[in-house]
Amino acid sequence: MTFDDWRDWAAALADRLCEQGVITDPAWREVVTSVPRHMFVPEFHDDTFGLVGTGDPRWPELVYSDDTLVTQRKEHPDQPGFQWSTSSSTRPSLMLRMLHLLDVRHGMNVLEIGTGTGYNAALLCERLGSEHVTTVDIDPELTGAARARLAGAGYSPTVVTRDGVRGYAERAPYDRVITTVATERVPYTWVEQTRRGGIVLADVRPPGMTWAGALTRLTVAEDGTASGPLHTCTWGFMSARADVARPGIPQAFGIDATNTRSRTSEVGAESVHISGLSLLIWWCLDDITVFPGPDEIQISTADGSWAKVSKALPARVEHGGPSDIWAEVEHAHAWWTARGRPGVAVFGLTVTPEGQRFWLEAPDGETVPGPRLR
Ligand SMILES: C[S@@+](CC[C@H](N)C(=O)[O-])C[C@H]1O[C@@H](n2cnc3c(N)ncnc32)[C@H](O)[C@@H]1O
Repeated sequence: MTFDDWRDWAAALADRLCEQGVITDPAWREVVTSVPRHMFVPEFHDDTFGLVGTGDPRWPELVYSDDTLVTQRKEHPDQPGFQWSTSSSTRPSLMLRMLHLLDVRHGMNVLEIGTGTGYNAALLCERLGSEHVTTVDIDPELTGAARARLAGAGYSPTVVTRDGVRGYAERAPYDRVITTVATERVPYTWVEQTRRGGIVLADVRPPGMTWAGALTRLTVAEDGTASGPLHTCTWGFMSARADVARPGIPQAFGIDATNTRSRTSEVGAESVHISGLSLLIWWCLDDITVFPGPDEIQISTADGSWAKVSKALPARVEHGGPSDIWAEVEHAHAWWTARGRPGVAVFGLTVTPEGQRFWLEAPDGETVPGPRLR
């Protein structure tokens, strides 16, 4: 594919990211200018999921825009007829923000989880040299295409097909691990495969309440645990697939309305969208799925508990199933209010072989309660 003036388009994108304050390191400006994004996205879906290919007049501008370009959609086997986005080339501003947070230096060994198109891997190769980059994706169709495109652009990182939750011990230890796919928990494998003092940069968020999550930048300590602050990122990555044929989508738990109870609450539906509080609600009800609506929301959990709650205050609450899950939200709201309504960036995360815990303000600060406050 030829696209003679692509360097002008790439330089214009890099300049825009500099103007926005996203690129502050001139070395990353150079990298964005040098990597041909168009070679990694010959075809993608537009906002209405129509296909945009090289022959489309919109193609060059969209390729070098600050947009996420959806490159793969699949039908979920449990939901025939519904297509879900399963891969994309992420918005450059988010990629560059993360690459700055990653704080890479020449000679570092980096693992990326979520190869997708290969463009972010290409940015890392351009900065570090291909021999220092390993990238993993669960989907063989994607790794095959990415490997070929990377080679076409002159890069040769190690591209591996596997569930990224396993990391890639064969090329460990890594100085940096970066994930471009969301997980609910940071698997200890990523920490284990990172050098002491190294960094794991992950997007932690639940599929059923994606806005509740955040980026987390963990530093691996001498004792093998990893801790670090959360960084606000309302619209992060698509959720990881546990199986290549199943998009990582929210679970739609059934609702049994035969024994509906009603009450009112001083905590309205908008609570689930407030930064910091939403993280707490997710962590208290860790299998929560939220269905937002214009006047009310519906939340449900795997045990069959559900609630419908109005936005207007005092809120009208209808609930059913084994427990009153809106009461959990009210407890979370009270905990959060008593601590001065902290936003998500006031929280942090620690990962140990036993699992992960969120904390407030500092690793030795207060542990965020959950799952289930009661
Ligand atoms: C937003 S895309 C990654 C974008 C990519 N870094 C790029 O530059 O194009 C997320 C990717 O994560 C992959 N993915 C989903 N679940 C995964 C898993 N369990 N392990 C590894 N990769 C996974 C998807 O197949 C998808 O390609």
